[in-house]
Amino acid sequence: MSFHDLIPVVNKLQDIVTTTQLSDLDLPILAVVGSQSCGKSSVLENIVGKDFLPRGTGIVTRRPLVLQLNHVKYDDPIISNGSNDYQPQSSPFSYSSSTDNDEEGEVNLEDHLRKHANGGKYQPPSEWGEFLHIPNKRYYNFNDIRKEIENETLRIAGTNKGISRLPINLKIFSPNVLDLTLVDLPGLTKIPIGDQPTDIERQTRNLILEYISKPNCIILAVSPANVDLVNSESLKLARQVDPTGKRTVGILTKLDLMDQGTNALDILKGNVYPLKLGFIGIVNRSQQDISENKALTDSLYDEQQFFRNHQAYKALSNKCGTKFLSQTLNKILMNHIRDRLPDIKAKLNTLMGQTEQELLSYGEIPSNLTNSPESRGGLILTLMTKFANSFVNSIEGTSLS
Ligand code: GDP
Ligand code: NA
Ligand code: MG
Repeated sequence: MSFHDLIPVVNKLQDIVTTTQLSDLDLPILAVVGSQSCGKSSVLENIVGKDFLPRGTGIVTRRPLVLQLNHVKYDDPIISNGSNDYQPQSSPFSYSSSTDNDEEGEVNLEDHLRKHANGGKYQPPSEWGEFLHIPNKRYYNFNDIRKEIENETLRIAGTNKGISRLPINLKIFSPNVLDLTLVDLPGLTKIPIGDQPTDIERQTRNLILEYISKPNCIILAVSPANVDLVNSESLKLARQVDPTGKRTVGILTKLDLMDQGTNALDILKGNVYPLKLGFIGIVNRSQQDISENKALTDSLYDEQQFFRNHQAYKALSNKCGTKFLSQTLNKILMNHIRDRLPDIKAKLNTLMGQTEQELLSYGEIPSNLTNSPESRGGLILTLMTKFANSFVNSIEGTSLS
């Protein structure tokens, strides 16, 4: 099961939870932490499966980006807007490549214009972004989302490479995402550059701690493989708030940039630094790849090839790379949901009892509400409980580490 396989399961459960007014599933927040330019934004994009964050050398991320992913169904009226129907696509990555839909039948005018506004690339209108600071505007073009993040960063954090603790809030609506919150954070710096305030290091550190000290936060501690791990700022910071390493995932980026003849096998095997959730090696797009607009799909493929063909990593290749990272995050989420289930079940039982009492107080149930001895409300609750039980069984059958 991969990260994206979890989507329908979680959403079904989320539906139950919301229709019964139970507290929501309380999924953990994922925060990406690391030194400047170590690959945080790149990793985050890989997890989301979309290409939309400002990336590059230097200080690019200067405000926290709180990214709220919202799952929407294909047949949701909020998407279809009364216009055409869209065929679900199985892979979250399939959107990043250009898909010519013209030959597949009718395309409405809105689609047509959108396609041409987007340099001829077809983007299904069922995925969009919305910024908290620009209400009621939907961004269907993810390049425009990137530009707006850049503008908003400049507007608040200024042009002098300073950082701001004021977050940019971006919601992504898509059938291919889990309801989940991710945070991209400014990178840790040692030495102020340009006009940066002298206490830039302390500012950044405090900002990061604000997010990662929450017990519900999964820390994605990124370290570049071409720098000695003892100097890893992200691991130092993560250890402060998670000393036993139970909610920290070590991510080792830039494995392709290590010196010839060296490798990070010992780190990846867990022989160097203890983390319960382990270290995962990653190869993101290089600056050149980004400049050349290399597609995310191509980079994911190349990453896989890198590990499979590498002398040192090939024996371990199924535990390396973005896909394995997604699977690992999936497991963490599953465990979290499993921990929350007893609570959800208990609340469902209470609710069921209350509904039964309520129905009894009505005396005879009006026949238009039901054509069986069971009321509709009772029936729904029975179905929900059955679902919750089968969900528990199904995830107990899944091997969770
Ligand atoms: P951030 O500052 O931590 O968010 O880092 P970015 O994701 O913006 O990446 C910074 C730069 O490093 C960009 O030019 C990326 O292309 C490059 N980069 C990130 N990860 C890798 C990697 O695994 N390999 C290579 N070759 N370059 C990478
Ligand atoms: Na950067
Ligand atoms: Mg960044």
